[in-house]
Amino acid sequence: MVDEVCKVIEHEDIGSGYRRILFDAPSIAAAAQPGQFVHLRVPALEASALRRPFSIFNAGDGRLELLYKTVGRGTAALNVVSPGDEVHVMGPLGHGFPLKCDGPALLVGGGFGVAPLYFLARRLKELGQPNDGAIVLFVGGRTNADLLALDRFEALGVDVRAATNDGSFGVKGLVTDPLDDELIRLRGAGRKFEIFACGPDPMLKAVAMRATGTGMKGWISMDRHMVCGVGACYACIQRTVRGNSRCCIEGPVFAAADLVW
Ligand SMILES: Cc1cc2nc3c(=O)[nH]c(=O)nc-3n(C[C@H](O)[C@H](O)[C@H](O)COP(=O)(O)OP(=O)(O)OC[C@H]3O[C@@H](n4cnc5c(N)ncnc54)[C@H](O)[C@@H]3O)c2cc1C
Ligand code: FES
Repeated sequence: MVDEVCKVIEHEDIGSGYRRILFDAPSIAAAAQPGQFVHLRVPALEASALRRPFSIFNAGDGRLELLYKTVGRGTAALNVVSPGDEVHVMGPLGHGFPLKCDGPALLVGGGFGVAPLYFLARRLKELGQPNDGAIVLFVGGRTNADLLALDRFEALGVDVRAATNDGSFGVKGLVTDPLDDELIRLRGAGRKFEIFACGPDPMLKAVAMRATGTGMKGWISMDRHMVCGVGACYACIQRTVRGNSRCCIEGPVFAAADLVW
């Protein structure tokens, strides 16, 4: 883990309150693993302000890419950062996804939860994983505008299946609707699979239950409010079968079977 001063290369609005930011970050990009996050000091906030955590959307060739939604003071202040500006970025942090997969990899995401899943899909493809199955992304949102980076997943050859609450894209309903169809199909065929998920808590709980209920491996990236990001403050506690775990150190990715909801 390093605290790197990173130059902003690109920063753009991608609609519906979401933005994409690309940094020159050679040290972090070289070490980053899918599911890890960075802790970013927002320059326009006072020096004493807390950093903000963001999943690594993509890393490689010295570059670090993030996707973020403007929700409050820190992310609003991040909006004004421009190409050429320098930002202190600490990372990579936390414990990411496993990179070996038994059977098809079923990725399940909502909102900015697709960010770590894209980096995961890219790395799995590079590693020739899963060796006996495909990578499928199940993505959900309230409306079409909440479905991010689908073109990036499709460019990797990922099979994208979408669900929106208003039916504006994909099937009308919850992301678990197309996921359940696939689980029934795979179980009927006696196939193993693994589930990787990131998104809002209710979705993560529903997905984790499906992993444990089918006896398959599930890997769940939890989003908890963080303060230090490095294990010192215990602000980011997640209950697990082994007791309280720190999301920033033992997580953010946990085995579904270990989580206590
Ligand atoms: C491991 C991890 C990875 C994350 N990855 C991403 C990402 O890739 N893209 C992205 O847009 N966001 C991500 N987040 C959430 C992001 O850190 C928060 O949205 C951000 O810190 C909010 O800062 P703020 O100052 O703008 O909001 P604040 O002013 O602090 O809060 C504004 C609102 O956002 C809510 N909020 C604050 N922190 C979180 C949080 N951690 N999760 C959910 N709601 C929150 C508050 O409850 C409040 O309602 C991640 C969080 C974690 C822990
Ligand atoms: S944020 Fe401080 S221990 Fe996790």
